[in-house]
Amino acid sequence: MASEMFGATDGDSLAANCVNPVYGALTCSTSSCHGGAAEKSRQYVIWSQRDVHSRSYATLGTARSARMAEALGIKDPLTERRCTTCHAPIATVETGLVMPGAKASEGVSCVSCHGPLEGWLRNHTRPDYTHADRVAAGMRDLRDLNARANACVACHQNIDPTLVEIGRHPALIFELDGQTQEQPKHWREPEGRSGAQAWFVGQAVAWRELSWGLRQGHLDPKRDLPRWRALGWLLQRTDFDRKMDGFGWASQEVTPAELTAAEGNARRLARQGADGWAPQYTVRVLANLAETAADFRSVGPALIQASRAERLVLALDRLLAALPADPRRTEASSQLDRLFRLAQSIPDFSPSDFARELEIFAQKLKPLLN
Ligand code: HEC
Ligand code: HEC
Ligand code: HEC
Repeated sequence: MASEMFGATDGDSLAANCVNPVYGALTCSTSSCHGGAAEKSRQYVIWSQRDVHSRSYATLGTARSARMAEALGIKDPLTERRCTTCHAPIATVETGLVMPGAKASEGVSCVSCHGPLEGWLRNHTRPDYTHADRVAAGMRDLRDLNARANACVACHQNIDPTLVEIGRHPALIFELDGQTQEQPKHWREPEGRSGAQAWFVGQAVAWRELSWGLRQGHLDPKRDLPRWRALGWLLQRTDFDRKMDGFGWASQEVTPAELTAAEGNARRLARQGADGWAPQYTVRVLANLAETAADFRSVGPALIQASRAERLVLALDRLLAALPADPRRTEASSQLDRLFRLAQSIPDFSPSDFARELEIFAQKLKPLLN
């Protein structure tokens, strides 16, 4: 399971699937349940027709997967655990636990995100059953952004470095807000929920996951330590309690104690962010991050500076998008495009150019923050 190797270290649906019977999407898909045409019951239809998660098994049968498999010495990606763990989780469940009708070919289906439904299948349709009752019966509370981020991150952040370096699998980077918007929605978000909140919780959870993967020795420190340091830096700049002051970001080594401390901090931030998010947090975090030009001027390993820039531009993009509509946003957006271009190539990254353009961005942002 992905949970053994890469993730879902916090209350994980994937691990739970190891001991619970696993039901397939067909169980949920009758027209009176989640396979109807009406808005309230269209979840199966949206997932099966528009969501890439329903095609993730088929991806393992493409020419691109065949090339990856060849480079990695894998016989058949469709049955290889190193692939199915994320692309077809049902393939990794012990046969005796797979319920009739559930098939690996359904890809990432309902239970992969919502958790095993043994506990709540029978009762969850009762009219008196609330969301809290379902969660108490074992359904994963995906309305809570912390629990949601922990569900997604298991497949969207850490990946065996040889798959990327030798197999040329896309490198993974978890960012909850953008990825939530990209996934075709089969649900309604609560009124007024800010994308900035999802962004923040997602980044904290991504850092927890990276810390965990490094501590377990699942990642390549050469590649992933700079990314870990960059994300830690970013979160430090948003940590209003300043409990992360004193973390050093420049050294090449990291101790297991530092990684454990990082996991603790990441959990604290994710919990805080998920529990409440006032509109002024968006403004404050955005202002703090836009004022970081000096950090790029200070001397530090180029790779860490480039990794910081990579995370920073993604952050500024999500936070800017979360501000109330304002015609003056256009100018800040086009300056942000410049920053994206400068951050694009790690080997060519110039910290001083980036710092200069970031200062201009901060100027253009000012009128939007009042
Ligand atoms: C069991 C593993 C798994 C879980 C859990 C999971 N995904 Fe995915 N996701 C995948 C795989 C595999 C792909 C690639 C699908 C393909 O193209 O074959 C993918 C693709 C995507 C994509 C399109 C490509 C991209 O990265 O932009 C989005 C968006 C996405 N997932 C969002 C989410 C969100 C949001 C969650 C949590 C609510 C989530 N996923 C949970 C495995 C997972
Ligand atoms: C840790 C989870 C994970 C594992 C393990 C994994 N993948 Fe993926 N894979 C993903 C995610 C997530 C995406 C979407 C990435 C994106 O679009 O940014 C993806 C994307 C892909 C794509 C590109 C799909 C497209 O059309 O863009 C291919 C091909 C692929 N994976 C094949 C494989 C093969 C083959 C293996 C085994 C050797 C494998 N994957 C193992 C999570 C995983
Ligand atoms: C990639 C992850 C993922 C997959 C796969 C997935 N869901 Fe969801 N689902 C979510 C998220 C995130 C939410 C939003 C949180 C919530 O409302 O509980 C959600 C919400 C829901 C809701 C609540 C709708 C509402 O408006 O309150 C239902 C019902 C649901 N999903 C059913 C399904 C069914 C049935 C399937 C399989 C056909 C499925 N989901 C597959 C992530 C997923």
